[in-house]
Amino acid sequence: MKYLISTFVLLLSIHASGQYTPATEAKIDSLINLLTLEEKVAMCHAQSKFSTPGVDRLGIPELWMSDGPHGVRPEISWDSWAHAGWTNDFSTAFPALTCLAATFNPELSYKYGFALGQEARYREKDILLGPGVNIYRTPLNGRNFEYMGEDPLLASKLVVPYIKGVQENGVAACVKHYVLNNQEKWRSHINVEISDRALYEIYLPAFKAAVIEGEVWSIMGAYNQYRGQFCSHNERLNNTILKGEWGFDGVVITDWGAAHDTRQSAMYGLDLEMGTGTDGLTTSAENAYDYYYLAKPFLELLRAGEIPEEVVNDKVRRILRTMYRTNMNTSKGFGKMNSNTHSEIAREVATEGIVLLKNESSLLPLDVNTTKTIAVIGENATRSMTIGGGSSELKAKYEISPLVGIQKAFSSATILHSMGYASGPSLYGETIPTVLDADSLYKAAIETAKKADFIVFIGGLNKSYQQDCEGADRLVYGLPYGQDELIKELAGLNKNFSLVLVSGNAIEMPWIDEVPTILQAWYLGSEAGFAIADIITGKVNPSGKLPFTFPVALEDNAAHHFGELSYPGDSINQYYKEDILVGYRWHDTKEIEPLFAFGHGLSYTQFELTKIGADQKKYALNDIIFLSCEVKNSGKVAGATVVQVYVGKEKSKVERAKKELKGFKKIYLEPGESQTIEIPISINNLAFYNETISGWEVEEGAYTIYVGEASDKITREIAISVK
Ligand code: BGC
Repeated sequence: MKYLISTFVLLLSIHASGQYTPATEAKIDSLINLLTLEEKVAMCHAQSKFSTPGVDRLGIPELWMSDGPHGVRPEISWDSWAHAGWTNDFSTAFPALTCLAATFNPELSYKYGFALGQEARYREKDILLGPGVNIYRTPLNGRNFEYMGEDPLLASKLVVPYIKGVQENGVAACVKHYVLNNQEKWRSHINVEISDRALYEIYLPAFKAAVIEGEVWSIMGAYNQYRGQFCSHNERLNNTILKGEWGFDGVVITDWGAAHDTRQSAMYGLDLEMGTGTDGLTTSAENAYDYYYLAKPFLELLRAGEIPEEVVNDKVRRILRTMYRTNMNTSKGFGKMNSNTHSEIAREVATEGIVLLKNESSLLPLDVNTTKTIAVIGENATRSMTIGGGSSELKAKYEISPLVGIQKAFSSATILHSMGYASGPSLYGETIPTVLDADSLYKAAIETAKKADFIVFIGGLNKSYQQDCEGADRLVYGLPYGQDELIKELAGLNKNFSLVLVSGNAIEMPWIDEVPTILQAWYLGSEAGFAIADIITGKVNPSGKLPFTFPVALEDNAAHHFGELSYPGDSINQYYKEDILVGYRWHDTKEIEPLFAFGHGLSYTQFELTKIGADQKKYALNDIIFLSCEVKNSGKVAGATVVQVYVGKEKSKVERAKKELKGFKKIYLEPGESQTIEIPISINNLAFYNETISGWEVEEGAYTIYVGEASDKITREIAISVK
């Protein structure tokens, strides 16, 4: 009786508790005292594809998860990957994270996160499986579209507000895939060997920012191995770095099926095991989950005293903490689904993220009043891009195709359309060859194009297997489905030609000199067509900047330069031989001219950067450089640019990149308007990771600050020194 009363009182206080506070820790401890060993173990693994069990008798609810990261995924069956077939799980498809990164706009990232979190909350999800911040290392990686580009600072600045936005809804973000999951090929076993310096300087910072600044509540371990241990239960990554150095107090979740060993899972930092197959037992709804590594085998080791009970208590403590922050948080809102505001945010991100790569003779924007006939060529003009791609697939309530967007924007023009090529339908893990005849499609496109004053080619990649899709990398750097030939011929037909590239990756452009205008349009979500039309018509002035480098040839990319052991590895191991020289750091340092540089993106107006200066010439440790600059819109239309500040050190005891992004600011200006902006850069952030002391070190001496509008468009260099 006494036990019952105290449980009752405790439950009341749990439910009256509202948001998680430090005082909640005492309640968590009392709950742990009430749980049996079996109940604790049950909380550490899945009970279905996307949920874990609660403990009914104590009022502990189930924990529900969903992908992530561009919208809330349609419901998946309890015990299989099949769609559950609900009719109320249509969502807003937000642009892919490459697009968000290309906005260089942290405020917009917060809006994105908040809207997405509202949708997740409405759908009763407690953990949203995203965002992803694996660094863009090779243009072949099938999942680059789900990540935030090649620069650790850019990814860090954008991931933090996204997380805060999501979590304000009482939904945990789950930053993934921790870490070094930079390719899909052999992702489930490849062992990555990398220097500590590259790990700390390039691959960890966005995760660290997510934990320390974003205060993310959960993190997903990657499939691959690092130094011979799987990342989901990796002693160094989880215990030493994540929970030790960074003090992470949330829950470490496996990627689906990424656990491989009970003792390691127990001891090396894994808290929650999801998605594991169990020797065929996964097909049974009854017992499969009980045989997970953190299920019966774990219970047995605990019972035998081979693993101390405090180990499971710590996992349960983290899970309960996550629950107090999410499903047991009584002050969370109700969420919202498919609201107009969500559509507006999706469109804002999409238009701000589109990058104008090239615009010869200012061919764009196109005048909606004088353009008479437009030929829209290409399969991506009509193909849905919110489905496919793997776990980030969505069931969008609606998706405006580029063709419809253009038709609506140019309502008084004649819009012709021809596919030009066909990729075939895509199922997860395989592409079904098209039944359409390639020659006829090609000829029809040429005939259609001949009838128009202006040609817009909308092609690129898609989310089919071995394109931009989870589970496999691209096989080649060039465009698929014979697009290169078609583009060349179309460009030869009519110089009034625009190419819209739908992709999450860089591609080879053998026709670059013949094509006058190119837009990089990513996977833009529900509002894709409207956003593309906004840019083509000039209703919105493009302001996106590339979050990764487009190399001319694949071998120009650092990871590929070092051959197969570097990418994709020998199937067992892979060595990140380019070390810290990833992306533009490689191109700049080795003077390899890219096709399009990191940070590049044109506008329909021009900006002038003047009065660029640092507040001092000499700095000491812990100082802050206040970099100021006057930015003027000297053109005729309103627009935005991103002032980018890079820092380099010529003389150093270690190999350095020529320059590294250390700060940026996006600024909107009316025609003729000027504004002075200030970008603070902490001297401590100029440190390199010194492997001999296993710590960060700021070197004394001379540094160069580079200020400009792209990594290859530097307006001014400033010399400073640190003592
Ligand atoms: C992916 C994760 C995803 C999970 C659940 C895995 O295959 O790598 O990113 O969150 O599945 O769908």
